[in-house]
Formats: sequence, structure tokens, C-alpha cells
Amino acid sequence: MHRTHRTVGSGGCGRRFARRARESILGPVERLSIRPSGPLAGTVAVGGAKNSVLKLMAATVLAEGRYVLRNVPDITDVRDMADLLRAMGAVVERSAPHELTIYRPPDTDLLPEAPYELVERMRASIVVLGPLVARFGHARVAMPGGDDFGPRPIDMHLRALEAMGTEFEFRHGYIEARADRLVGARILLEFPSVGATENALMAAVLAKGTTVIDNAAREPEIADLAAFLNRMGATVLGAGSSTIRVEGVEELSPVEHVVIPDRVEAATFLAAVGVAGGEITITGARAEHMDMLITKLCDMGMRISHDHEGIWAMAPGRLRAIDVSTLPYPGLATDYKPLLVAMLAVSDGVGIVTENLFAGRFRYIDELVRMGADIRVEGHHAVVRGKPMLSGAPVRAHDIRAGAALAVAGLRAEGETIVTDAAHIDRGYEDFAGKLAALGADVSAN
Ligand code: EPU
Repeated sequence: MHRTHRTVGSGGCGRRFARRARESILGPVERLSIRPSGPLAGTVAVGGAKNSVLKLMAATVLAEGRYVLRNVPDITDVRDMADLLRAMGAVVERSAPHELTIYRPPDTDLLPEAPYELVERMRASIVVLGPLVARFGHARVAMPGGDDFGPRPIDMHLRALEAMGTEFEFRHGYIEARADRLVGARILLEFPSVGATENALMAAVLAKGTTVIDNAAREPEIADLAAFLNRMGATVLGAGSSTIRVEGVEELSPVEHVVIPDRVEAATFLAAVGVAGGEITITGARAEHMDMLITKLCDMGMRISHDHEGIWAMAPGRLRAIDVSTLPYPGLATDYKPLLVAMLAVSDGVGIVTENLFAGRFRYIDELVRMGADIRVEGHHAVVRGKPMLSGAPVRAHDIRAGAALAVAGLRAEGETIVTDAAHIDRGYEDFAGKLAALGADVSAN
């Protein structure tokens, strides 16, 4: 791999490992067992972005026909979104290991309804609301509840759709939305919410006239959704910046699309090598989607470089503590935070971590403390005093990223760490244990 950026490292990145995806037929992983393994080495491939593919799947309700999505990870959230589309009448097939084909069988009407049983499984289902109203003029979607991060309001989603002419009624736990034809509007988001930007964008593409979304979220997954919509025939300008302009069109058509790589999965491997030490290559990862994280990891003492094939990373020994603060993109993603806390727990010095997006996103810290980490939480700040080594313990994964972070912490914890409720990790990671094991980590799933 040719290294061009922040290159300090030496030569090649060592062995390549064959990897066999865990068959989904094996069912969810209940427990992960991790032991310290010494430095990691080798190459691992990153999959498609969960937070992109879920929205692309939702966008398929915008036009009839046959869609093909490539680079789709085999994860629970994708299966849940597939079930939701099926409940509406679509056919969703895994046409190849990382490919989904989505279409509606002839003579089937699509039912614009997202039932509670499915929305409850996956909160992100709320992103079907905008495209359903835009396409069908009405939709019935279960109200999502809170989750382990605390309350997860959708007021900005609803206000954006209201600005385009949607009327809402709330009955028996369902949002009932109605609009004759959506009309383009100026939408000023109070906060650059990812989901609200996506819902507004997917509604605006079929609205009459021009929509401008100001203070839009700028995540790479939004730009991927816009690229998908534009390929379908929409006119979306400025996605990836704070102002998105959409000229509504009468009709869209289905397309084929390759999902962007998952930056949080890539970050997980970076955190793993940061904690365990070693030198790895992450193929498929796009460093330009992870600039702030890479800057922070270099501040901690890691060496990182990249080229068009992926990211090379090396951790020379125990890292230095730094302060981190989560912000909407291009700031440091809240999804990286549990991984950074795990890294700080074994770094040299004291780091202050500030959470600015999800007030309740600190629950995994109690679990890290059970592993001997020295962390004090004050409001939305955590003060992490690094220790040379943690102590393996049984711990519980409360959500996807927390589960991944606990497993990563286990790489520098004496004895055995057992992560229970590890099925949470499968929601967002394909073959999590297998990929880490391929890098030489002592991780097994059962
Ligand atoms: N918010 C509101 N009102 C709204 C919408 C959001 O107050 O109508 C608040 C939220 O409560 C939160 C903040 O705005 O405090 C940001 O929420 P946002 O809407 O941006 O998040 P999201 O769309 O619900 C997505 C990802 C999350 C990721 C966040 C932030 C998906 C499926 N989920 O959630 O990813 O943490 O953006 O980047 O795209 C994960 O992958 O594990 C995950 C949780």
C-alpha cells in the first residue's frame, strides 16, 4: 500500500488472513469471550455502512421497479429493515453475499405502514415516513420509543415534513401522516439531525418545487443517499454541506448502487490496534470520512496513513491520553466515543470526554469500571484516568457501539472478558469476532 498521509510507518502490513463470514444461519451471537492477545497484525476488510444502507433501503419505496444494492453488510439491522419492506409488500432478496435485490411483485400494492413490532426492533425505521408520504400521500408509522441512549425525539423529522404540507395525527401509538402533494419549502433544522435531514431529503425529491434544507447534517451517509437519489433521477445539490437544495421531480426510477464503507466499523479496528498494539491494514476504509478521528488517534501516538485501497495503522505501545468532544460531522462522531473511552481507559494520562449528542450515552462506562477502568462521569463529561491494564470481567453490551468497545477493552484486560447480550453487536457488525480474530485477537463468539 502506498502511504501518502501522516506517514511515519514502515513497510508492508504483514500477513493476509483468509476470512470466513459467520453464517447468519448460526443465529445471533449471545456471548463474546476475549483475552489479551498481544499486538495485532494483518489485513481486514471493512463492510458497507449500516447507517447508509438502511436509508437507501427506505428510499426504495420512492419508485417502483428493481433495485440492486451492493456492499450490503449481513447485519441484523439490515435484516430488520428488509422485514419492514417485506411487511409493506416488497420482495427483498440477498442475491449475493453482499448484495440485496429489492422489488415489488407485479399486482401487489405497497402498504405504506410500519408496524410497531418492526419499528420497536429498529428505531431507524422512522426514515420510511418521509418517502412514504412523498410517494403515497399517506403513511402510518409506529412512534419509535426511547432507547439506551435516553429519549430519542423525532420532532425535527415531523416539523420538516409539516413544512412541506404533511398533516399528522397521533393515534394508538402511531403517526398517521397525510398530504395531497408535498410542496417544496425552506426547512431550517434546529440541530443537524441525521435522521431528520434524511427524512426531509427523501420527501423533498418528489415534492412540487424547491426545498432548501438549512443546518442539514453533513455525514458521508447523507451524501451517499443523495447520490442514490440523484441516480434515480432526483435533483439534489449540496448534500454533504449544511445547505441542501432539492428540485422536486414527478417520478423516479430504480437503480443499482454500491454502499459506501462503514466508517464506524473501520474506527473499531483502529481502536482495537490502539488498545492491543500492532500494525494493521483496513481495506476499503475511506480516510476522508474519518479525518477528525484520525487526527485524534495521531495525537494519541498512533501512526496512520491511507491510500485509495484503505487505511494503514500502527500503535507503537501505550498511547497518550487526550480530550475528546463529540459533535455532528465533520466533528468527532458520537459513535466513536465508546471506542475512544476504551482506548483512554488503557492510555497514559487523563482524558476528558464530552458527549454533546446523546445525553444517556455513558451506560457502558459502568461496565468498563467493572473491568477496573478509572472513569468518573459528571453530567455529559467523563474523566478517564488511564491504567496500564484492565481486568477481564463479565460485562453487558447495552448497544452496538458499547458492545464493540467492551470487546476492544478486553484486548488489554488480564484474564477473560465475557461480553453478554453480544447480539447487539450483530446489529451493526458482520462477523465481528471473526474479523478481530483474523487480526490475531483472541476473540471467540458463542
Ligand atoms: N434529535 C431531536 N429531535 C429530532 C431528531 C434528533 O432532538 O427530531 C436529537 C437526538 O435526540 C440527538 C441529536 O438530535 O440528541 C442527534 O440525533 P440524530 O437525529 O442526528 O441521530 P439519528 O439519526 O437518530 C444517526 C445514527 C446514529 C448516530 C447518530 C448521530 C442511524 C441509523 N443512526 O441517528 O448511529 O449515533 O445519527 O451521528 O443513522 C449507531 O450506528 O450505533 C447509531 C446510534
